[in-house]
Amino acid sequence: MSEQPPPALDPAIAEFYHRTPEESRLEEGAFLLEALRTRELIERHARRPPATVLDVGGASGAYALWLADAGYTVHLVDPVPRLVAEAQRRSAARSRPLASYRVGDARALDFPDRTAEIVFLLGPLYHLTEAGDRARALSEARRVLKPGGQLFAAAISRWASALDGLSRDLFQDPRFAAIVERDLRDGQHRNPTERFDYFTTAYFHHPDELRTEMEASGLILDGLYGIEGPGWLFSDVSDRLADPRRRADLVRVARLLESEPSGLGVSAHLLAVARRP
Ligand SMILES: C[S@@+](CC[C@H](N)C(=O)[O-])C[C@H]1O[C@@H](n2cnc3c(N)ncnc32)[C@H](O)[C@@H]1O
Repeated sequence: MSEQPPPALDPAIAEFYHRTPEESRLEEGAFLLEALRTRELIERHARRPPATVLDVGGASGAYALWLADAGYTVHLVDPVPRLVAEAQRRSAARSRPLASYRVGDARALDFPDRTAEIVFLLGPLYHLTEAGDRARALSEARRVLKPGGQLFAAAISRWASALDGLSRDLFQDPRFAAIVERDLRDGQHRNPTERFDYFTTAYFHHPDELRTEMEASGLILDGLYGIEGPGWLFSDVSDRLADPRRRADLVRVARLLESEPSGLGVSAHLLAVARRP
């Protein structure tokens, strides 16, 4: 286990998750498309249960509880106590509860070496703004994986806020335009406004950077996918998802573009699927 003390969560990120309803985020609109496609990619690639899973940055358990229902032994880690308490509450009401839940940080995991067959980092990589911290989180994921174990790691696309601004007509706010300008310049997303829908402190990856960071951490990259495709940009995405035929079209086009290098950045999120040698 890591001998260094757990690093502190950036106060802006802590405030964001204290104030915004992350526990219901994936239930509608563009986020529902994110959830559908993330689950599809996990189901396609993850080894079948029984297997031990660490969901690091698991928030209130949207994926962790789904994986526990599927028969995995799931441990949830998140640095935000409010979200871990919500995961605990939800887990207690399930017939297949989580194996454990704890407040913790991706950079210093409180698990022994070679604990898990699968690790999820669906959040930490984009909230760690320094390359060294992301490398530390990837090194921790590698450490706790068994040889041959899988890592599913999400990133936010470099162009996510630019496209979101177009979709939601946000560029009329010059403060938003300035945020996007910096995103595109160096990937560093900072939101000095009071608007929580402009998101919070994050790093937005170019797809090539995500590939490089995974490989530099000694993992074998098996695939790099665009999660949502272009569908998240439609203002009527909720209506489309509610209609089975149009929902299938959104998913079909996301699938068609998921591995096309020239189209990866149109998704809000990227998913790297990798393995410990
Ligand atoms: C947008 S939420 C995603 C939650 C969920 N995994 C999902 O994909 O929907 C990002 C999560 O990453 C967590 N997070 C931020 N920094 C982290 C860190 N250094 N280590 C672990 N988790 C972190 C946040 O607390 C938050 O729950």
